[in-house]
Amino acid sequence: MADVPTRRPYHIIIFGATGFTGQFVVEEVARCAAEGPGLSPLKWAVAGRSRQRLEEVLKQAAGRLSMPELRTDIEVIVADVSIEESLAIMCQQGVVILNCVGPYRFYGEPVVKACIENGAHYIDICGEPQFLECMQLQYHTKALDRGVYVIGSCGFDSIPADLGILYTQRQFKGTLTAVESFLKITSGPEGFSGHDATWQSAVYGFADSGSLRQLRKKFGYKPLPVVGAKVQKRGFVFFSKEIEQYAIPFMGSDPSVVKRTQRFLYEEEHQSPVQYSAYVGVGGLFSIVKLFCGGVLFWFMVKFGLGRKLLTTFPSLFSFGLFSKAGPTMKQIENTCFSLTFFGEGYSDGTDPSQGRPNAKICTQVIGAGKTTTAQLICILSYFSLSLSPLVIGRGGVYTPGAAFYKTSLIDRPP
Ligand SMILES: NC(=O)c1ccc[n+]([C@@H]2O[C@H](COP(=O)([O-])OP(=O)(O)OC[C@H]3O[C@@H](n4cnc5c(N)ncnc54)[C@H](OP(=O)(O)O)[C@@H]3O)[C@@H](O)[C@H]2O)c1
Repeated sequence: MADVPTRRPYHIIIFGATGFTGQFVVEEVARCAAEGPGLSPLKWAVAGRSRQRLEEVLKQAAGRLSMPELRTDIEVIVADVSIEESLAIMCQQGVVILNCVGPYRFYGEPVVKACIENGAHYIDICGEPQFLECMQLQYHTKALDRGVYVIGSCGFDSIPADLGILYTQRQFKGTLTAVESFLKITSGPEGFSGHDATWQSAVYGFADSGSLRQLRKKFGYKPLPVVGAKVQKRGFVFFSKEIEQYAIPFMGSDPSVVKRTQRFLYEEEHQSPVQYSAYVGVGGLFSIVKLFCGGVLFWFMVKFGLGRKLLTTFPSLFSFGLFSKAGPTMKQIENTCFSLTFFGEGYSDGTDPSQGRPNAKICTQVIGAGKTTTAQLICILSYFSLSLSPLVIGRGGVYTPGAAFYKTSLIDRPP
């Protein structure tokens, strides 16, 4: 695995193990380590800023998984984002750091920097385009020089979209030129809700959207070529026949991550880029009205310091119960599932994409249950990064999951 020494005390260190998501990641890594696959025995540790809370997390995981050995066998590393030395000591002990400390715009950069300087690979579950793109701009060359991989967005944002598109491209017999994806979330009688940290990421991300535009200019990229017929973007709200409900553009990190992967494959592998638009289903007319009122209020409030303070202090009130400080209950998580459906079009084998209209279509789908989606994904990815030597690209750098893993069998891995 490039220049990173593999003879370190731990294969994986879960940083931010006490967080809402971090606790699921702990359970998922414990389960994977017990069942295989890959390295045996897997040596892993938990890290965070409070030893006591980390021990409590291990105790809870030990009880839930009926694995009492977690309390005695798993080491605890104390590290705080604001104490550089503690991050360095943590990074020197691990081959891969799974960073679950967010919002990443506030806490992520010191961890990326410490990983690169101390030779540990870095994986996160960030869904903030500004942070992800900023890390690429600032740290790609440094990571490349040190042979360290920095792979962001390895959770629900944005593995299903990024690898889903690559899967669709592989299945298509010819040149796939455009894909629209539709996310549909289904919940049980208790409804669906998200955790406060994700809400905070959204509030500060929207408030600072101007900086993202400035950041993108700094890359100095030429626009990706449009291959085949240009796809018209849909309106802000429309009724989707594909998922039989109203839909709006998806505002998460998926379009940004997919675009970066497509650019990488175009520039490095001379592959034909796919035009991509992401939408999310929002339900019926009543949901549209609610969304419109909430959206206008949100857009207005994020512009002001006081507005942001109110939004982040009362997430449940201003998101109409969609996000809360407590996060979703176990019942809500267990009863929530998602489908991400891709509708692609292109030119069949032997036809020229520069001539005429697309003549072939494809539909693929990624489905998942809410329970441990993000935790499972980051865990699988860390196993992949450990067991594949060298990684696909074989030289380190800051990459999207699609760019890092497109040559591996990860996409075909059974769930
Ligand atoms: N991609 C996805 O699908 C996905 C899914 C879920 C979450 N996320 C993202 O993941 C991030 C975490 O979400 P979450 O809901 O788990 O948040 P959370 O419950 O608030 O957890 C935050 C974690 O960060 C730790 N932390 C905070 N400040 C720290 C510091 N100075 N030094 C070290 N650790 C520090 C906290 O430790 P303490 O316990 O000591 O406070 C806690 O472990 C967010 O950015 C969220 O948007 C992404």
